[in-house]
Amino acid sequence: MACCHADFAAVEGSDRGFTLGMPTFTFGSGVLAEAGGNAVELGLKRVALFTDRHLAGGEHVAKVKASLAAAKVDTIVFDEVAIEPTDLSLQHAARFARDANVDGYVSVGGGSVMDTCKAANLYATYPADFMTYVNAPIGAGQRAPGAVKPHIACPTTSGTGSETTGIAIFTLTSLNAKTGILSRRLIPTVALVDPDVTHSLPANVVAATGFDCMSHALESITARLWPRRLNPAQGVQRPVSQGANAFSDALAAQALDGVGKYLVRAVADASDVEARTEMMYAAMLAGIAFNAAGCHLPHGLSYAVSGLTKDWHVAGYPQGKTLVPHGMAVVLNNPSVWRHTAPAHPARHLHCAQCLGADTRDATPDDAGEALAGRVIELMRATDIPNGLAALGFGDDQIDALAAGAEPQYRVIKNAPVDIGADEIRRLFRAALRYW
Ligand SMILES: NC(=O)c1ccc[n+]([C@@H]2O[C@H](COP(=O)([O-])OP(=O)(O)OC[C@H]3O[C@@H](n4cnc5c(N)ncnc54)[C@H](O)[C@@H]3O)[C@@H](O)[C@H]2O)c1
Ligand SMILES: [Fe+2]
Repeated sequence: MACCHADFAAVEGSDRGFTLGMPTFTFGSGVLAEAGGNAVELGLKRVALFTDRHLAGGEHVAKVKASLAAAKVDTIVFDEVAIEPTDLSLQHAARFARDANVDGYVSVGGGSVMDTCKAANLYATYPADFMTYVNAPIGAGQRAPGAVKPHIACPTTSGTGSETTGIAIFTLTSLNAKTGILSRRLIPTVALVDPDVTHSLPANVVAATGFDCMSHALESITARLWPRRLNPAQGVQRPVSQGANAFSDALAAQALDGVGKYLVRAVADASDVEARTEMMYAAMLAGIAFNAAGCHLPHGLSYAVSGLTKDWHVAGYPQGKTLVPHGMAVVLNNPSVWRHTAPAHPARHLHCAQCLGADTRDATPDDAGEALAGRVIELMRATDIPNGLAALGFGDDQIDALAAGAEPQYRVIKNAPVDIGADEIRRLFRAALRYW
C-alpha cells in the first residue's frame, strides 16, 4: 500500500486542514554538547535544568551542564522530577520554576522529566489553578494564554517522543487516573536527540519505551482519519491531535520499520550501537506522528492498568512503590485492540504488520487483525514482556474495575477508528488477560 490519500477525502462537516507541530530538532551522536550553543542562540542567560535524581549525578546531565557552562549560561538544577509524574509533583516543579527566575528551560531525561519541565514552564509563565489547563472534561481545558519560555529538550530514553510533542502526561491523584495538558505551545523549542545516551539504559527500560514508541506509531496510523474527527474545531482552535494524516502516516511507518528491525536487538545488547541509535530515531519520528494524529485505545486502556495494578516492580525503575512502566501498560493491550479494530481499516492494519516485519504476502483483509496482533506478540515474547494483564495480577473479577478506570479516557478512546462503548472496553480487557 503506497499511501492512503483516498482515505482523507472530506465528508460533510470535515475540518479543511490539519496542523503539524514539531520542534527544531538535531539528531546525532554527541549532540548533547550543543546545548550551550542552542541556549545562546535562543538568547538564554539563565536556565533551569530539569532531570530526575537517578540521572542527576550521571554523565548525560554532566555533558549538558558542561556545554551550558562553556557557553556561559547560568544553570540552576531541579532534580526532583517524579518518575511517572503526578499533579502534586508537577505543582512542586512549577513552584521551583516560578521562584527560579530563569529565561528558559533545559530538560535531560525521559518522558517523566520532559513532561514535568513542560508543565513547570507553563504554570510558571502563566500561573493558574492547576486544573485550568488540564484536558477537559477532567480539567477546565483552557488554552495556554500565550508563548511559554524556550525549552531545550534532551531525551535520555528511546520511546516517548516527548521531545517533539505538546503533551505533558501525569497521574491525577484524586482520580488515580492519567490525564494530560495538551498545547502546541508546549512543544519544546529545540530537541537535541543524542543516541549516545542509550548505552546506559537498562534492558527493561529499552523494552518498555520501545513498545511505547511502537504503539505511538501504530495508534497514529490506525487513528480515526482527520476528516472524520468529531466536533472539528478549526483554525487556531484546532486541537494538537486531530487524527491520522498523510504526514503522520509516513513518519509512523518509518518508525515501525525501525522497531521491527531493531527493538529486539536493542533490548538484548546494550553495546549494539546501531540498534539503540535506530530506536532513538524511531521514537522521535513516532512522537512527531502521534502528536498530530493522537493516540487511542492502547493508551486509553493503559491508564486504567497503571492506576489499578498492585505490587508490581520492574528492575531499572525506581523501587519502593508499585510502578508499571508506561510502555509496558500500553503494549499489554495492543494485540487485543488490533484484533478488534482491524475490520475498520484492514489495509492500514496490514500495512502496520508489514512495516513491523510480518510476512503479509498471502494475507487477506480478514487476516489483518491477526497479522498485526501476532507480530506484536512475537516482539513481546522476544523481549520478556509479561503475558497479558493476568501476569500483573488481573483476573475476570477485575474487568469491571478496569473498564471503569478507562472511563476518564474517553477523550483518547474517541480517536479510535470504531465507536467504543463500555461493553467493548470490557471485552478488550478480557481479551488482553493472556496471549500465549
Ligand atoms: N509527553 C508525551 O508526549 C509522552 C508520550 C509518551 C509517554 N509519556 C509519559 O512519559 C513517562 C515515561 O517516560 P519514559 O518511559 O521515558 O521513562 P521515565 O522518564 O519515567 O524514566 C524511566 C526510568 O529510566 C531511567 N532513565 C532514563 N534515562 C536513562 C538513561 N539514559 N540511562 C539509565 N537510566 C535512565 C529514569 O531515571 C527512570 O528510572 C510517563 O509518564 C508517560 O505517560 C509522555
Ligand atoms: Fe505513550
